[in-house]
Amino acid sequence: MAPATHPQTDEDWQARIYDAIDAFSPGAPIDDLNLLAGRAKQIDQMLDAVLQRGQHAILYGERGVGKSSLANTFSTKLIGPTRTRSCIHINCDPSDNFTRLCRKIFRRLTSNGENLGDKYINDIYPDDLVYELSEFPLNTFPIIILDEFDKLTEGETPTFIANTIKHLSDRSIRTTIIIVGVADSVDGLIKEHGSISRCLRQIRMERMSPAELREIVDDRLPSLAMSIHQDAMAHLVALSRGLPHYAHLFGQQAAKKALEHRRLVIDIKHIEQALPVCMEQTDQSVRAQYHWATTSPRSGNIYKQVLLAAALSQVDEFGYFHPVALQNPLGSLLNRDVKVSLFGQHLKKLCQEDRGSVLEQTGSERKYIYRFVEPMMQPFILMYGLKNGLITREQVSELAASHYEPRLSSEF
Ligand SMILES: Nc1ncnc2c1ncn2[C@@H]1O[C@H](COP(=O)(O)OP(=O)(O)O)[C@@H](O)[C@H]1O
Ligand SMILES: [Mg+2]
Repeated sequence: MAPATHPQTDEDWQARIYDAIDAFSPGAPIDDLNLLAGRAKQIDQMLDAVLQRGQHAILYGERGVGKSSLANTFSTKLIGPTRTRSCIHINCDPSDNFTRLCRKIFRRLTSNGENLGDKYINDIYPDDLVYELSEFPLNTFPIIILDEFDKLTEGETPTFIANTIKHLSDRSIRTTIIIVGVADSVDGLIKEHGSISRCLRQIRMERMSPAELREIVDDRLPSLAMSIHQDAMAHLVALSRGLPHYAHLFGQQAAKKALEHRRLVIDIKHIEQALPVCMEQTDQSVRAQYHWATTSPRSGNIYKQVLLAAALSQVDEFGYFHPVALQNPLGSLLNRDVKVSLFGQHLKKLCQEDRGSVLEQTGSERKYIYRFVEPMMQPFILMYGLKNGLITREQVSELAASHYEPRLSSEF
């Protein structure tokens, strides 16, 4: 941990810049519970599922909201004088079938000195897995985390996993299986295997609240002997759109800018100076998609403004927004009253391949709702808009839906 002192020499300042880069982790899930901001409710729900026999869990939410980080860290809380845990966290791959998935688990387990990976050379079935998972000592809570569940493409694998969960539950075996994935894949699993829904606790990861995003930054600055002005923090939170990746990225790059100016307090101009670097660090695919979505031979087209309005809107638990939600922000950006009829076609076109398929739609004719295919797109759109003078910082703070407390789409 960096000493909380005032840097003196150029070397001190440079060292502090390295510490700042290290303190934030925009590119990797959190692996230490002490560094996990917020999420108290989800931690409780996860522990509950682990402690109750026969209960398993599904942790679901949009990409990048912090599912892997939670799955990595929550079980630390279980460790006590009389309790221990054995946590195996594996990522699913498109190439995995049930046997390969089990092998990944078995490779991380030993029984009577023998690595279980060596025990099964042929196909592995749910009963083999159930058998091996019932063999743990009584004071141990075994947890198997199947992360990136949505990556599985092999048809029968989810069915085998569902069967395993059913057997474990019916026989009251202590092992808890936790499935982690984007909401749609989880929805599919439950729909197809209704019988397991009773023993599967469904735990939703929402985007982060402003307080949780602030905590990410506030937790890390003291070790750098740094602090942040309120308006800079508010801007950082508004731009992050509930996504912790961006809170880390903005926090990291703004801290770096402040330190380059030999300052220990981050202010709004450090955030502004950091934005071009943050744009460069955004996935190339997101930048390319934005380019396709907004390039048009017709001057005066409003694609960029429509996307800005969409990026500012409130979304539901699956990330969808209702077209009506765009009226107010778009009106403000275009400086006139607008109705859905002005931009309804734009939303439809933004779902098409020649516009980068930046949005997708669901629902029925006249009641379509939309979402960004890539949640990471939203902060990028705002950064682009700010850099190119399409929106002002004041408009961002005024128009951005300030929190992502999920609401049913029908409430719009
Ligand atoms: N509770 C949290 N506190 C601090 N940082 C977080 C938290 N949750 C996620 N992050 C950060 O956000 C980014 C995305 O998190 P990750 O767990 O990989 O999301 P997901 O698995 O849902 O795609 C990572 O950079 C991670 O460090
Ligand atoms: Mg993940």
